[in-house]
Amino acid sequence: MAGLAINVDHIATLRQARGGSTRYPDPVHAAALAELGGADGIVVHLREDRRHIQDRDVYLLRKTVLSRLILEMAATDEMLKIAVEVKPDLVTLVPEKRNELTTEGGLDVQGLSESVGQAVQTLQAAGIAVSLFVDPESSQIRASTDADADMVEIHTGAFCDAPTPGEKQRRFSDVMEAARLAHHLELGVNAGHGLCYNTIGYFAGHRIIDEFSIGHSIVSRAALTGMEKAVREMRNLIKEL
Ligand code: PXP
Repeated sequence: MAGLAINVDHIATLRQARGGSTRYPDPVHAAALAELGGADGIVVHLREDRRHIQDRDVYLLRKTVLSRLILEMAATDEMLKIAVEVKPDLVTLVPEKRNELTTEGGLDVQGLSESVGQAVQTLQAAGIAVSLFVDPESSQIRASTDADADMVEIHTGAFCDAPTPGEKQRRFSDVMEAARLAHHLELGVNAGHGLCYNTIGYFAGHRIIDEFSIGHSIVSRAALTGMEKAVREMRNLIKEL
């Protein structure tokens, strides 16, 4: 069975929506509940601009996560220093642009081979396994082997966002082809970005993905499935006034 790692960034997005004046919802609490639900890992992306996850979240999660802590980050000196200190179970290196809404594309491992290779070495020397978030392109998968990565995470965004069934099938084939190549090259194979309750079924029977990394769709679903209970709790408090 493939693993399921839950990205709790958007719990922090909700908290930060009030400019840091509330402590809730706390991604540390969400991570514990995700683990109770069967999560095999907890993912957070500490961005340079700290728009959602804060340093405090990463350090606390290291102490509380019972499954595996996966830190997504850019390969900057600042983030490498934090990772070496926190020692997550896995670091996923991602490209980061200040103005993007979410990670837009995969890491250009081929174009940035020297800096990516150095970051991989630094992390592995600290005992941290490293995954590279790449587009489903054979050149990037091969470059990931050259960079000595332990695994790749294949970007499923283009597949998930494809506007027509034909395009979706083509993009899914790209993901599968990249996954098969990575597997052949003895890299671990994760997949993520944009996966939701409708797209996950495409992977049925393809037992090649080690772990799916999913955030936005699950946090969104949790907000709706929890709405009735949350309203009832406030309704009851008001009844008692
Ligand atoms: N994997 C990576 C590398 C990501 O950057 C993200 C988004 O933070 C995800 C997986 C999860 O994507 P989503 O929130 O769309 O499920």
